This record gives sequence, structure tokens and C-alpha cells, in this order.
Amino acid sequence: MNLSKLEQNETPFYYYDLELLGRTLQAIRQAVADAPQFHVHYAVKACATPAILQKISQAGLGADCVSGGEIVRAIEAGFPPSRIVYAGVGKTDREIRIALQHDIAAFNVESTAELEVINALATEMGRKARVAFRINPNVDAHTHEKITTGLNENKFGIAMQDACSAIRLAQQLESIDFIGLHFHIGSQITSFEPFVELCHCINALTEKLEAEGIEVRSINVGGGLGIDYDHPEEHPIPDFEGYFRTFKEHLRLRPSQELHFELGRAVVAQCGNLVSRVVYVKHGIAKHFIIVDAGMTDLIRPAMYGSFHKPVNMSAAARGEEGSEVYDLVGPICESSDVFVKDYEMPLTQRGDIIVFRSAGAYGEIMASQYNCRPLPGSIAE
Ligand code: LLP
Repeated sequence: MNLSKLEQNETPFYYYDLELLGRTLQAIRQAVADAPQFHVHYAVKACATPAILQKISQAGLGADCVSGGEIVRAIEAGFPPSRIVYAGVGKTDREIRIALQHDIAAFNVESTAELEVINALATEMGRKARVAFRINPNVDAHTHEKITTGLNENKFGIAMQDACSAIRLAQQLESIDFIGLHFHIGSQITSFEPFVELCHCINALTEKLEAEGIEVRSINVGGGLGIDYDHPEEHPIPDFEGYFRTFKEHLRLRPSQELHFELGRAVVAQCGNLVSRVVYVKHGIAKHFIIVDAGMTDLIRPAMYGSFHKPVNMSAAARGEEGSEVYDLVGPICESSDVFVKDYEMPLTQRGDIIVFRSAGAYGEIMASQYNCRPLPGSIAE
């Protein structure tokens, strides 16, 4: 990131480092090079900026979508429909039709009610829908409660004990082709232990299904691999080797089975930065505040999940600032939760300084809103 280049643009905006994204994609390719049964999809929900999607589709990854809009966006960016999977608890008729029209690889189905609707619409359109059931394995991902998805109390998927009867139903429906099982236990998972537990659950379930004479052609383990928000410089690329090795070692895969992954955050988080400019430095009674022109409308993660995005004052670094101060770094939105970080030591900061929030490539730009009639942040990818 070059400061004088950043300064030429109107803030706030997202800056994506395509070179780092390229190295990240290369690390993924390398980690699965010896595993022909492994198929990696990119979870489009993390960031759907066209330049990012294009680079990921060119690298040969598939796409994991959660809406009709994402399916259209993925196809526009070059993902072949044969590598698109589609999950979501509330797929509408219109969205299901879009997916059927494009003959995507698989629907990850989350209820039998949804299965029946897909069957009816596919019959009407003269299509056959490939279907995997999303199973709720009741595995605790040990992550933030708002991004935990694989527990019995969560709204996602079908309970393990209902899998067999749902599959039996699918096998009876004329326009459904049952292909396998889908799981996703949560996001920002920073230990491999929950994935090991997931593997054990899947092994037990596939064995049970095999004993019932049910063939599972495809297993999809979702996403969830976390990144290092505290040390983006030291760990710009997640440990894909270790992640994929966990599945190589613990999942009993039959020679004919495919294993699918849906990684979002791990692919794009570190290559994205939110670039802001200091509007005011304000000295209160108890605190010093840095007020920047970016806010929770541009990056909602700190307000929503208490997440940390490392702030870097690029201008202070360029002028060799030696003094420092403890600041609260806040946005301009009329909400007291519009805070990036509290009591954080930063170099002495001035009005006009460029402050970059690191690790903002995933669930950053895509979750932006227009609250307070603010324009959506733009983006630069280079
Ligand atoms: N597959 C499914 C079915 C998912 O629901 C998700 C994420 C993924 C894959 C990708 O997960 P990842 O590899 O990115 O962890 N907005 C939150 C994260 C929500 C994640 C939702 N599902 C955040 O900003 O942390």
C-alpha cells in the first residue's frame, strides 16, 4: 500500500491487495495438490467485489452462494455453474428457479419443506436438482456466538437423527438427485479441534447411512477457517496446509467420494483494508478521540461482533512520528457503538492522517449499509 496513492482517493474506501490474494490462492492450490478428491469453493458472501471474484474464479475455485443474487454475481465473474453450490435456510421460489435455470452443481438443502419445493419447481421446469442435505452436527466451533452455526439450538440444517428419513424422502422424489451431505459449524475458527470433531461426526453418520444402503457421493464440510486479526503482517496467509491435513487425516473418505470446502474469510480477509481519513482529533475529559470518516456503515464487524481490525496510521509512519497517545478510535455515525477500538495506543495523530483498518477483506465491504444516508464505500483492487 502506497500512501501517496491512497491519498489521491476520496475516503473511505476499500483497498484490496491482489498480489496477496494471488499468494493466498496459490497456498490453497498447493495444500490440496495431492488430494484430487478435494474441491475448494469460495464463499461469495465474504466479499463479492467483481475484481476479487474474477481473480478467485480464474484460480479455479468453485463458488458457494447463499442467494440468487450471489449465484448471478458468481456466474458474471466467471465461475462455471457446475462449480456452484447453493445454501440458505430461506431459499425463495425465484431464487430456486435461478439456480435450476443455471443447472448449478448442488443445492445444500436445509429442510424437507424446502426439498419438496425444489422438487416441485424442478419438475415444472423439466430439470433434475442435485441435492445435499445440510446436517447440523451439534459441534461447538468455540467462536463468537453470533457466528456459531452447528449447534442444535441454531436455525441451520437438519438434525443428525433426521438425516436418514430426509434422504429416504429425497430418493422418492422424481426431480431430486440425492448426492450427499453438507455441514458448516461456524466461522473464525482458530483451532483445528472443532474440525477434528466434525470429521468424527461425519464418519459416524456416513457409516450409519452406508449400513442403511445409502450412498454418499459428496461430502461438504463448509468453511470456517479463521485468520489472525491481531497480527496481519506476521500471518498474512492462514495455515491451509494444517487445515486440509486435518481432513486428510481424520475424515474417512471412500475412493469414489468427493470432499468439498467453502472457505470465505480465510481467502479474502487479509488482502482487504478499509482506508479512512482523520476528520478530527478531540481531547475529552477522560479520553482522547480520533474521529475518522469511516464508520460502522463501512465496516460493521467491531460494532456487531466486537471484532478488532488493526488500525495503522500510515501518515504518522511516513512522517516518522515518535510520540504516541492512547486513543478511542471512532466513526462519525450517530450510534455509541460506532467505535473501532477503545484505549488503543497509536502514534500522535493529526487531522487529515490516513488510517487503514487491516484484515477487512471478508465481511467488510459486502456488509456496508447506507445508514445516515451515507454513500457506500467504493473499492480499489490492484
Ligand atoms: N458455508 C456456509 C454455509 C456459511 O454459512 C459460511 C459463513 C461459510 C461457508 C463461510 O465461512 P467462512 O469460511 O468465511 O468462515 N459476518 C460474519 C461471518 C458470518 C459467516 C456466515 N457464514 C463476520 O463478519 O464474522
